[in-house]
Amino acid sequence: MVKVGFVGWRGMVGSVLMERMRAENDFQGFEPVFFTTSQSGKPGPDVGMGAKPLEDAMNIDKLAEMDIILSCQGGDYTTAVYEKLRANWNGYWIDAASTLRMADDAIIVLDPVNRNVIDAGLKSGIKNYIGGNCTVSLMLMALGGLFEKGLVEWISSMTYQAASGAGAKNMRELLTQMGELNGEVGDLLADPASAILDIDTKVTAKLNDSSLSTANFGAPLAGSLIPWIDKLWENGQTKEEWKGIAETNKILGNSDASIIPVDGQCVRIGAMRCHSQGFTIKLKQDLPLADIESIIASHNEWVKVIPNDKESTLHGLTPVQASGTLSVPVGRIRKMNLGPEYLTAFTVGDQLLWGAAEPVRRMLKITLA
Ligand code: HSE
Repeated sequence: MVKVGFVGWRGMVGSVLMERMRAENDFQGFEPVFFTTSQSGKPGPDVGMGAKPLEDAMNIDKLAEMDIILSCQGGDYTTAVYEKLRANWNGYWIDAASTLRMADDAIIVLDPVNRNVIDAGLKSGIKNYIGGNCTVSLMLMALGGLFEKGLVEWISSMTYQAASGAGAKNMRELLTQMGELNGEVGDLLADPASAILDIDTKVTAKLNDSSLSTANFGAPLAGSLIPWIDKLWENGQTKEEWKGIAETNKILGNSDASIIPVDGQCVRIGAMRCHSQGFTIKLKQDLPLADIESIIASHNEWVKVIPNDKESTLHGLTPVQASGTLSVPVGRIRKMNLGPEYLTAFTVGDQLLWGAAEPVRRMLKITLA
């Protein structure tokens, strides 16, 4: 029986993966082996076949017994074991980290968008299948139809990225900051007659007096935002912003000659686990809006076009509704004053599902099929 090794299954992305695999009844037809970086020998999870002891995730020989390894452990782990393991191992490596994404012998997986690229990779013997950056994957899930029809000349994505993209500790820190700010003005808030400018003065002072918990974000996020994600890359771009053009084109399998320019600013905001993006899209042709909406809506079963009105937007196009779901709403779709080929749209998507766990879960199924 095919052996599948799971690493990092207890972390945030790993837990979402496990939840999805259980919900989809995925744990059948293969032997799951659970690895750990810290609890070797302790009982592993019971996924329907009884709990077996956890294996050591740093044990290269044990890893090499696997036919497939699915890691949600993160980039540092991939860096630590991948090269050593590959020296004597020809199995399938599936992970959600950026370490191997841009390598020539790796495919970035998002099968509703690039199943053709994945299938060609499998046929040609490629063994590394890596989940993409969350904003890139969510953009392609939302606008896949426009890309598929070759309608996009260039695209600018301005992101509004949730705390979860920075990690579990950051989600806690965001909530802690919210509580600290609220605590500062609790008595004034309780008094309907208090002056809003007094409240604002106290909140602003708290945001500026260096007493908020900022160990993970490095700055207040609650009551503010942080227009910088990841490290400085080149041309003043952050690495997160560079991934837009690099990964989008790699996912789509575009050659150097057919690269679609993608650029924008990536911003951290105080949402929990849903990334949002506002797009400016230069289309290759002037199409009626109804045709554009139908191209977007019919691309995959998860994208959902939200009518461009206030009611639908408030109740269908915010992180509140998308959180914990596979649905990828896209709305605020309209032609811009810039000209008839300029389209704007807004999308929201769960960063831990389509942005992380779901593409690799589906890739495991494709590999096993
Ligand atoms: N880099 C993303 C973020 C998350 O910081 O939101 C993972 O793709």
